[in-house]
Amino acid sequence: MPIETTATVVADVPDDAELLAVPYDADLSPGVELPLPVSDLLAHYEAKGAAGEIVEVPVARAGGVGRILLYGVGDGSPKALRTAAAGLTRRARGRDTLTVVTPDGDVAAFAEAALLAAYTFRIGGAGKPAVRALVLAGADEEQVRRAETVARAVALARDLANTPSSVKNPAWLAERAGESGLPVKVWDEEGLRADGFGGILAVGRGSASPPRLIQLSYTPEGPAERHVVLVGKGITFDSGGLSLKPTANMKFQKTDMAGGAVVIAVLGALAALKAPVRVTGLVAAAENMPSGTAQRPSDVITHYGGRTVEVLNTDAEGRLVLADALAYADAELDPDAVVDVATLTGAITVALGPHVGAVYASDDVLAKQLVEAGQAADDRLWRMPLIEDYTPALESSVADLANVESGSTFGAGSITAALFLREFAGDRPWAHLDIAGVGRSTADEGVLSKGATGFGVRLLLEWLTRG
Ligand code: BES
Ligand code: MN
Ligand code: ZN
Repeated sequence: MPIETTATVVADVPDDAELLAVPYDADLSPGVELPLPVSDLLAHYEAKGAAGEIVEVPVARAGGVGRILLYGVGDGSPKALRTAAAGLTRRARGRDTLTVVTPDGDVAAFAEAALLAAYTFRIGGAGKPAVRALVLAGADEEQVRRAETVARAVALARDLANTPSSVKNPAWLAERAGESGLPVKVWDEEGLRADGFGGILAVGRGSASPPRLIQLSYTPEGPAERHVVLVGKGITFDSGGLSLKPTANMKFQKTDMAGGAVVIAVLGALAALKAPVRVTGLVAAAENMPSGTAQRPSDVITHYGGRTVEVLNTDAEGRLVLADALAYADAELDPDAVVDVATLTGAITVALGPHVGAVYASDDVLAKQLVEAGQAADDRLWRMPLIEDYTPALESSVADLANVESGSTFGAGSITAALFLREFAGDRPWAHLDIAGVGRSTADEGVLSKGATGFGVRLLLEWLTRG
């Protein structure tokens, strides 16, 4: 479900606000009668003013008892304001209205985090509902509207990734892309065959739900500064195929289309944010299943454009569907830059853990832009190296390339996966985001909720709207 909380802006705090949040150092609005001066209250509760700290004080209200939430903002940085805001909406779960005196500083970051922390994915009635209304007093309307657009895009990406795979097969994903309001082109199995998308077809072969390639197009109103192609991995369930995954880890693979969800969500938000760039989104969607029709380890497939690949492990399927989409973007779309987003390797979780995503890039300027956008948008990236010495890992004796190393000479699974993808991006400035570590959260914490995170939406929107 989308974020159910509404966000409105008012100039002054309404007299009857029953749940009112105020930064520690702000003047309390007239009409609020605290039992003790703020400084005494804070001293009593040993409050230090850290971001995320909340001191709750009951106050007399016309209809009974209201509450003041005195909240810390730490050093006032965007990061601290995000923590503070997320804490407030989490505290207000189950309540009707939370009125917030907004802090000095980055109000967009504050509002965005408040809305993201209100996100839940529920099927049925489990858990407390999010606060119904968020009222931001003294905030800049334009910044709040931008924050809301971004937060709702993140929520859409989370919803798509959290949806059970019994519902979200590739055709379903194509329908959701169609709801973006943008021109959409969809290749079904027949179309994929006609145009030679051998990687997407091979991965989808084992499933009763056939694969799709989904293309979304955004054109700005004014002249476009450049053309960017975003490619998303859209594996609606990754069982591993005949190279079957162990039971313990398989259940997490319903979110293996998180990259594709990011692409759909980003494309859908560009118009509202007036992005000055032309953007084409490609989602390579398939379900990776074992069956009598599934591809086998040792099969050789032919990708879009004619390159052959020996499939040594059917669980390295993400790179196979992405290779087709990257080759197509290079041959047909003439982009100035290509960025793919994929839950590609378990290895990147070992390298960077759950808080930082990986970016690989063939172009230093592009890498720097993405890292900076990620820093500003709170989707943190770390640039990983494309180590040339490891390219022999992908040699095959029977085809142009192998999809995995046949021995284990190099390891470095996330790097060799990136090297594989690079082969299909042509000479375009290309970047690859491996979001396998950051795509899913194990707990409700800060702006994240248990399940899909929507990682990548905020950073790509930041990057694409900077021009
Ligand atoms: N979808 C997985 C990667 C993944 C793992 C995402 C854990 C999220 C959490 C991917 O398709 C995969 O199976 N990768 C293999 C590659 C290996 C066979 C070379 C992996 O990482 O084990
Ligand atoms: Mn896999
Ligand atoms: Zn996968």
